[in-house]
Amino acid sequence: MRVEMKINGRAVSAEVEPRLLLVHFIRDVAGLKGTNIGCDTTSCGACTVLLEGRSVKSCTLLAAQADGASVTTIEGLAPDGASDPSSLHPVQRAFHEHHGLQCGYCTPGMVMAVTSLIAEAEEPLDEAAVREGLEGNLCRCTGYHNIVEAALAAAREAGVAAGPAASEAEGGRP
Ligand code: FES
Ligand code: FES
Repeated sequence: MRVEMKINGRAVSAEVEPRLLLVHFIRDVAGLKGTNIGCDTTSCGACTVLLEGRSVKSCTLLAAQADGASVTTIEGLAPDGASDPSSLHPVQRAFHEHHGLQCGYCTPGMVMAVTSLIAEAEEPLDEAAVREGLEGNLCRCTGYHNIVEAALAAAREAGVAAGPAASEAEGGRP
């Protein structure tokens, strides 16, 4: 069957097996390898992308279910970010500045999930809301503290964070 979608603003169209997962369409058809596969069973969130602006685990959807839709992957957040760090997306910059990654495998999915969490926030985000919002994204390296710090910093920059930075509340400890 033919499936066509916009990925990061670029039209991508291909004949695919009806059972092809969206994550494989993104990685193997569109050639965008920034979206990782950690489990294939909806558990880890490494494959998180934005579908019509909302975060989804792209291993839980068939490519056919995204036919005609608009998808954003990590590569679409800051197209020039790899060559020009000053053009990183604010969430990417917050992860960098707050050391929100170690091996980096979960990071594209985490960044997309945080981006969606901030965009969809109906009330100011605090630490509990961030932790709850990221429940579906697993990280085996960081212990989550710095990921949450990064998410809150990005939320502050977007004007949707509750309260002061944790480091400020703790007397400026980084
Ligand atoms: S690869 Fe999709 S949730 Fe783990
Ligand atoms: S930084 Fe290694 S899995 Fe999260």
